Formats: sequence, structure tokens, C-alpha cells
Amino acid sequence: MEVGSSAGNRETMAMMTQHNQNGKGDGRSREPEAATGGAMPPASESWAFAQTLIHTRRNVAPRRLLEPGPDDAQLQALLALAAAAPDHGQLTPWRFVIVPQDQRHQLADVFALALVDRDPSATEAQIASAREKAYRAPLLLVAVACLGPREPDTPSLERMVSLGAAIQNMLLGAHAMGFGSGLTSGKAMASNRLRDLLALIEEEQVVCCVNIGSATRNKPRDGLRPEPAAFVQTLGPAA
Ligand SMILES: Cc1cc2nc3c(=O)[nH]c(=O)nc-3n(C[C@H](O)[C@H](O)[C@H](O)COP(=O)(O)O)c2cc1C
Repeated sequence: MEVGSSAGNRETMAMMTQHNQNGKGDGRSREPEAATGGAMPPASESWAFAQTLIHTRRNVAPRRLLEPGPDDAQLQALLALAAAAPDHGQLTPWRFVIVPQDQRHQLADVFALALVDRDPSATEAQIASAREKAYRAPLLLVAVACLGPREPDTPSLERMVSLGAAIQNMLLGAHAMGFGSGLTSGKAMASNRLRDLLALIEEEQVVCCVNIGSATRNKPRDGLRPEPAAFVQTLGPAA
């Protein structure tokens, strides 16, 4: 399967459509047949596809993400991928807030005010730049981690792992559809103004923004990915 090709997109979309059709209407949906031991492509094909998909995804700066973004069906398919993330205790310890174009001004206001809160001497240009960040990328979702309440007792680190997997599922899905994607964060993520805008409860935390759209150019990644030897050790016998 070719990544980013219309054939690849059709195949990926077909699997996603099947997933959507499997919905039970109770807020949870069955896995697509492929995930339950059904019609997976031959192992060599799916392995090659997975490797290509994962290795060719790269972070794209939101200013390089233009229209068209995902349509409604594609957005729903991407959210269904998020729901396929590992989730200890099935808590769905995260949520995504979509900020549509006609509401971006609210995010822009928060980014500007959060900057002035941090730095009352911020210049007009810096404030304008903070505001402008809210208008980039056709699709912008704010990723929120739900780190409590403590019952059931799934630790917050595990909950964050689940959110990371949900985000990665969406990034890879968007990449398979032929879109570019990028994550953005920054100090405004922790601002009370953003918390208020998104009506966060005490146990919730904004983590980052997920930006998706059509990449204007495919810039090669800066730097190589780490070699496994740099992050893997093997436990030896006890001393
Ligand atoms: C939680 C999170 C927040 C991020 N925030 C930013 C950001 O504010 N600005 C940015 O340029 N990249 C941001 N990134 C993207 C990383 O810089 C990017 O993933 C990294 O450089 C590796 O590049 P790659 O994704 O192309 O492999 C963020 C990544 C994560 C996981």
C-alpha cells in the first residue's frame, strides 16, 4: 500500500468506514473486523505499510498546514482512531476540543491575554503573533488530559500514555489520508484563561494542540531519529 496515494487513502478510508458502521450507538463501538482477526492484508504488506506510514510521518509547522483539512467524515474517522488507543481501565482519560474557524477568535484572545499575563511589557507585534497562532491549520483540536479523579485508580502517568497513543493514532491516520499534521504547545497551554475557555475541571490539563491540514511542502525532518541502542538497555543478572 502506498502512503499518501489515492489507492492507499481509499484502502485506509474503507477500513475506517467499516469501523464507523460498526458503531453500537452506546458511546462505544466494536473494533473493525481487521482488529479482531478478520480481513487483514497479508503480513508482509501490512508490515511494509505500517513501517512506511510510521517512518514517513513528520511534524509539520501549523503555518504550513493549509486548506483543505479533513472533512467531517474524515474528522470522525480520525477521532475513532483516537478511541482505539490503549486505555487502562477504559477510562478515556482525555478529550479533544475542536476549535472551528468561526471560534478561533476566542483562542486568539486567550493566547494574547495569556502572553500579557506572563509578560505585561509584551509588544503589539508579540501580541499579534500570539493571536495569529490560533488561526493556523484548517483543523485544530486541543488535547486535554483527564488525570483524575483517583477512582478508579489508574495513575496519571498511565493516563498520559493513553493520551499520547490517542494523539499518535490520529497523526498517523491523518498522514495515511494524505494530510500533514503538527503538535504545538507553549506556555499558554497552562494558562487559567485557556482552562476557563475550555471549561476544564480541576483534574484536567491542556497538553497541546493537534493541527491538521494540507502540507504546503514536505520538509525533511531536522535530525535523525535515535538509534534503538541510544534508548534500550537489557537487564543483566543481579549482581
Ligand atoms: C506534547 C508535544 C508538544 C509539542 N509542541 C511543539 C511545539 O510547541 N512546537 C513545535 O515546533 N513542535 C512541537 N512538538 C513536536 C515536536 O517538536 C516533534 O514531534 C519533534 O521535533 C520530532 O519531530 P517529528 O514529530 O517530525 O518526528 C510537540 C510534540 C509533543 C509530543
